[in-house]
Amino acid sequence: MNFPDLSVDLGRGLILPNPVGLASGTAGYGFELRQLIDLDRLGALFTKGTTLHPREGNPPPRVAEVRGGMLNAIGLHNPGVDHVASTYAPEFSRWSIPVVVNVAGGSVEDYLECLDRLERAEGFAGYELNISCPNIANGLDFGRDPAAAGRLVAAARARTGRHLMVKLSPNVTDIAAVARAVEEAGADSVSAVNTYVGMKIHRGIRAPVLPGRGTGGLSGPVIKPLALAAVAQVRAAVRIPVVGVGGIMDADDALEYLIAGADAIQVGTATFVNPAAALEVLDGLLTAGERAGVSRLEELHHPTPSSSGDGLALSR
Ligand SMILES: Cc1cc2nc3c(=O)[nH]c(=O)nc-3n(C[C@H](O)[C@H](O)[C@H](O)COP(=O)(O)O)c2cc1C
Repeated sequence: MNFPDLSVDLGRGLILPNPVGLASGTAGYGFELRQLIDLDRLGALFTKGTTLHPREGNPPPRVAEVRGGMLNAIGLHNPGVDHVASTYAPEFSRWSIPVVVNVAGGSVEDYLECLDRLERAEGFAGYELNISCPNIANGLDFGRDPAAAGRLVAAARARTGRHLMVKLSPNVTDIAAVARAVEEAGADSVSAVNTYVGMKIHRGIRAPVLPGRGTGGLSGPVIKPLALAAVAQVRAAVRIPVVGVGGIMDADDALEYLIAGADAIQVGTATFVNPAAALEVLDGLLTAGERAGVSRLEELHHPTPSSSGDGLALSR
């Protein structure tokens, strides 16, 4: 066990050895990153969004750099649930990092069929439902409609005893209402947030850089203040654990999320800049904890009478 003890119990059997996870879609299924870093030291790997059928995703260009971040319109490129269940999951069972499979779909039936096929496999610790997906039935994202999100989560809850995390979309008027709906429907935790809708214009061709609708998902440090606000709103709205994600580049950023009310965090875009970013976040939190002489993670961001009393300034 690391000292200080950084483990986080997210409920229903999902215990992260530490609060630093890799965000969905920024580390694939872990196989490439494993060759570069010691993946097993991290708290969790959230896989690429997995769909019922394999998807090639959108044709390139599907990523674009912007000041302080990036836009992506990958289009859920993934090998499909059967490949994940039969080929990847047995590999995951040999790893010590908990793997959480991110699941996406266009209809409730898609999501449920994915879960049913994954339920027959071992080797992963739970699900992260990506509800920022267009609902085939009404064209709206599940994540934009609290009632639709609640119905999806209730149906998913009935299918699995594994941990069920729900990834919230920030592209909504009231993220707290969606968080409450999925909590009531049986979610064990929520992760916040997915990417923000953004656009980059190419002045030369007088058109958006990304094809199709021209929009993409905005991520990276540019979204951190927005995402922190969303995490604080969600924290105030629900009792279940909240996993914070958006623009975390270093341990100080991670600490800010913990102070805002997150129980754990995910590192996404930073991994594209530096494959070891998440490990450096973890090491930074460990160093801060050791320096402060705390024995539990909570003492780092929730100062107690027994801690140094200087909890908010521990990252100095
Ligand atoms: C290239 C790319 C692909 C992504 N794919 C997914 C995905 O498949 N499912 C999902 O829930 N989130 C996906 N995300 C969103 C991230 O998991 C994360 O929520 C978001 O990027 C904000 O965190 P960051 O600023 O640290 O990257 C993706 C993000 C990027 C940059």
